[in-house]
Amino acid sequence: MAEDGGRGSGAVPHPGHFDAIADVYERSRPPYPDALWARLRGLGILGPGVRVVDLGAGTGQATGPMLAAGAQVTAVEPGRALAERLRRRWPGATVRVDTAEHVALAPGGFDLAVAATAVHWFDLGVVLPRVHRALVVGGHLAVWRNAYGDPSVPTPFRERVAAVVARRGAGAARPGPGELDTEEWVERLTSGGWFAARHVEHFRWQVELTSDDVRGLFTTFSDWTPDEAAQAARAVDDLGGRVTEHYVTPLVVLRRADTT
Ligand SMILES: C[S@@+](CC[C@H](N)C(=O)[O-])C[C@H]1O[C@@H](n2cnc3c(N)ncnc32)[C@H](O)[C@@H]1O
Repeated sequence: MAEDGGRGSGAVPHPGHFDAIADVYERSRPPYPDALWARLRGLGILGPGVRVVDLGAGTGQATGPMLAAGAQVTAVEPGRALAERLRRRWPGATVRVDTAEHVALAPGGFDLAVAATAVHWFDLGVVLPRVHRALVVGGHLAVWRNAYGDPSVPTPFRERVAAVVARRGAGAARPGPGELDTEEWVERLTSGGWFAARHVEHFRWQVELTSDDVRGLFTTFSDWTPDEAAQAARAVDDLGGRVTEHYVTPLVVLRRADTT
């Protein structure tokens, strides 16, 4: 179960969902694991002076740590409310209110492009050649997302979450690969020939959440209704008021193909 709830849908996923609940989003989304940032630094693609474009930046959950690593970050976010919060929270970033499909990016203006829990919203046929053009020769695209629920670690809370999902109709599943179908994502990200895979890794981590945390976080999921988020929060109360959640963050780092 995850950001977009996996298969079957309680609410129809829409990219405007996040902007409509910008305050809850800023408060409730967890950060990405330290090990992921260490890996990006270790691969030599994130560090002082690196010019990064953060596509689908939201309120800056990825922008902030990249600024802290010394990078110069341009954050692209179509949601006005989200972009406003990002600007307030991370004044060091250059913020562009636009989509990944339309934003004007200087050719060769960036060393690294990033999409954190965002690439599944993009039209990759449009975005990949544009990102390729915006990167320097030898530049990289790093794509990752938090999968909220590690299927390899069953827990009583996850059983309750699965029961909420099971009560949904089978109908409105998002088309395309799931968040942990990493091989399929690699295939999609490389099939146009704009990028080649350099590094793939899954980070496993855990976090303690209260029922209030769960209500907030599940409200941010684009395919969860408010009533379903309340059911998940009630499950935490039933389980003693606090649960340990096991998460997975798949990371795909791609190198810009050496065309012009
Ligand atoms: C789940 S949020 C992730 C936000 C942030 N990167 C993070 O890690 O928390 C997905 C973001 O993608 C944005 N988004 C949706 N469609 C987009 C598009 N076509 N171009 C750029 N961003 C888009 C949404 O507005 C939202 O902020």
